Amino acid sequence: RQRILSGMQPTNDSLHLGNYLGALVNWVKLQDDFDAYYFVADLHALTVPTDPKLLRARTRLTAAQYIAAGVDPTRSPVFVQSHVPEHPQLMWVLSCLTSYGEASRMTQFKDKTAKGGNANVGLFTYPILMAADILLYDAAYVPVGEDQRQHLEITRDLAERFNQRFKKALRVPEPYIVKEGAKIMDLQEPTQKMSKSQSSELGMINLLDEPSRNAKKIKSAVTDSETVIRYDVENKPGVSNLLMIHSVLSGTPIPQLEDHFAGKQYGHLKVETADVLVDAVAPFRARTLELLDDPAELDRILASSADRAGEVAARTLARVYDKVGLLAPV
Ligand code: TYM
Repeated sequence: RQRILSGMQPTNDSLHLGNYLGALVNWVKLQDDFDAYYFVADLHALTVPTDPKLLRARTRLTAAQYIAAGVDPTRSPVFVQSHVPEHPQLMWVLSCLTSYGEASRMTQFKDKTAKGGNANVGLFTYPILMAADILLYDAAYVPVGEDQRQHLEITRDLAERFNQRFKKALRVPEPYIVKEGAKIMDLQEPTQKMSKSQSSELGMINLLDEPSRNAKKIKSAVTDSETVIRYDVENKPGVSNLLMIHSVLSGTPIPQLEDHFAGKQYGHLKVETADVLVDAVAPFRARTLELLDDPAELDRILASSADRAGEVAARTLARVYDKVGLLAPV
């Protein structure tokens, strides 16, 4: 079976609806057809200064949410990035193949530094660590949301460059970005993506928040001054976002929703979307809280998953070290 891999940063107390619909829902489905590896990108999270206790708590919290969503760790390892030291080790080798200009052109780095902020070198080399995450596992596909596309492109470039220089040694991965849910927008500013770092409190649905709070946020989502419920991202970004959220959560195709809401008011769309959301998230939330009640069990899952991931990672790193000419220890 082909391998796939993906990860999320533990940078919040809850995953948000974009993480869930853009990535996690697909992770769960893909387990049936692929040898899947899912990890918590705690090393990436260090690029944002965080209280150490909080980071540790959020790392468990993120892993628990993968499992609560339906990732089965007996089939698909759920591990913590820093538990597998080969990630930063491969990153170093890839750094030496990355040009300074190439790294400077990454939009995420440009966006974050454009806003003033004191950028650290970790933020600059972030995509190279991400490339290492992926290439260590010979991943055929990487299920992510649309915002990660550029990172996957540099990963492919680095793999191809490595293969050219050192003879084929790394698998060149394909992005796996499904249209539905690939970009969930901010509820208050529907032309911007829902984002941990940029969305306002009202613009973002945190899955672990009180259901009534999330229902309220859907009901106060920004729409437009028309009255027609139609999917048109360009002219009706707010309404289109609600239709997309409803569609992915309820499994109803958008054209069918448009028929269903024909002649109805925005209020109807909001109430129904809020209901669909609350129903979908309730079991997820309950399961997450249950998993967090037994941190020792969760830590055991993370440890055995890291062992399994580490075996694959060690083989790839040994192959890479050998190709580039590092002398193997005896
Ligand atoms: P992160 O933690 O920002 O996001 C996790 C996943 O959620 C998706 N996502 C969205 N999808 C749809 N709409 C949105 N508004 C939205 N916001 C976020 C992201 O596309 C992602 O799939 N760099 C990665 C973490 C990472 C990684 C990796 C991913 C590190 N190494 C290796 C894949 C493979 C990140 O910051 O994701």
